[in-house]
Amino acid sequence: MEFRSPESALRSLGHAFNLSRTLLPRMRDQDFSNGARAQHHRENCQELLSDTQLLLKGLESCQLEELPLTTRSRMRRELPPVISALQELAATDSIFRIQAEETAMTLSGALTTFRETDSALFAPLRQQLRVGTLRGVSLSSLLEKNLNDRRFLDGYSGADVMLDELLELEEPPDRMTEGHLLKEGMIHYQPLWVGELLSIGSNLKLSPEDTFCDLGAGVGRPGMLLSLLTGCRAISVEYQTPLAEIGKRAIERNKLDCVEMINGDVRDFDFQRANVFYMFNPFHGKLFSHVGRMLAARIETARTHGEQIRVCGVANGPFLSLVPGLVLVKSDGITQYFESIQP
Ligand SMILES: C[S@@+](CC[C@H](N)C(=O)[O-])C[C@H]1O[C@@H](n2cnc3c(N)ncnc32)[C@H](O)[C@@H]1O
Repeated sequence: MEFRSPESALRSLGHAFNLSRTLLPRMRDQDFSNGARAQHHRENCQELLSDTQLLLKGLESCQLEELPLTTRSRMRRELPPVISALQELAATDSIFRIQAEETAMTLSGALTTFRETDSALFAPLRQQLRVGTLRGVSLSSLLEKNLNDRRFLDGYSGADVMLDELLELEEPPDRMTEGHLLKEGMIHYQPLWVGELLSIGSNLKLSPEDTFCDLGAGVGRPGMLLSLLTGCRAISVEYQTPLAEIGKRAIERNKLDCVEMINGDVRDFDFQRANVFYMFNPFHGKLFSHVGRMLAARIETARTHGEQIRVCGVANGPFLSLVPGLVLVKSDGITQYFESIQP
């Protein structure tokens, strides 16, 4: 096995990160009177130390500043709990103290490098975004340059890291906390990857005359991005308050005057307010049928006014093709594009 590579560093980081999250809460109040539990704890600590040794070996082989954006972003997110666990270990266990202290110090140095590298990269770009010069083609080419940085097995890439960093989007709460917030028929949050959003942006041909609505928006990345790229107005509707609040803060921070976040159920939304609708796998069952009827009603009023409605569904095509008055105009992988029948 190759120990000196960024890939091996990431593997060890992932393992150390998970271990640290379990270990950290237990370190302070470890009960050493229970022999078996103390033994198990010790084995975990030993494991944490060997993971972090492998992590250091992996990092030694790299020029830290030149690691891909996705790798640096994972390091910035996952190193802090690992360093805290090592520091706790150094403070509470004399056997592991020296090794844990030294490792924590070296990893803290690496973390500082990752933070400084990324803040030097993002600070000027955020400034451009806020004053309104990073828009349209300049924004899409910046994102496209990072599409090949794909460290993940799914569609996410460096472009996702770039967008989240530009907007300074806070991390969404753990999916485990969502369960009690969702009602029947609602599907949990997963953001659509930027690569797919970019192609939706060009296929939908949005303009400043359009009002794009994301039905079940999460933190609202699609609305924010597509409005920045095309100048369209955007309304994001999200049921889960913690997600909607993250979106509202990002809209305010970035002064996105054309973007609105509504915290509520799409069933209470006034569909007359938009002419382009988008959804990425937000609901199923009766809830989906209900939304289908609302879309059909919107199409009907549009027809009487000689207006056209566009609908884009990611992973929802079969359902949308059942909505009366909608016809499929393009199918592109997991995304389907529909238009209302011309009056
Ligand atoms: C798969 S995520 C899609 C997020 C976002 N549209 C995107 O493309 O990045 C689905 C979202 O729909 C939200 N949702 C589900 N049912 C909803 C409803 N009835 N009203 C508003 N939001 C809803 C969920 O809370 C979740 O955040």
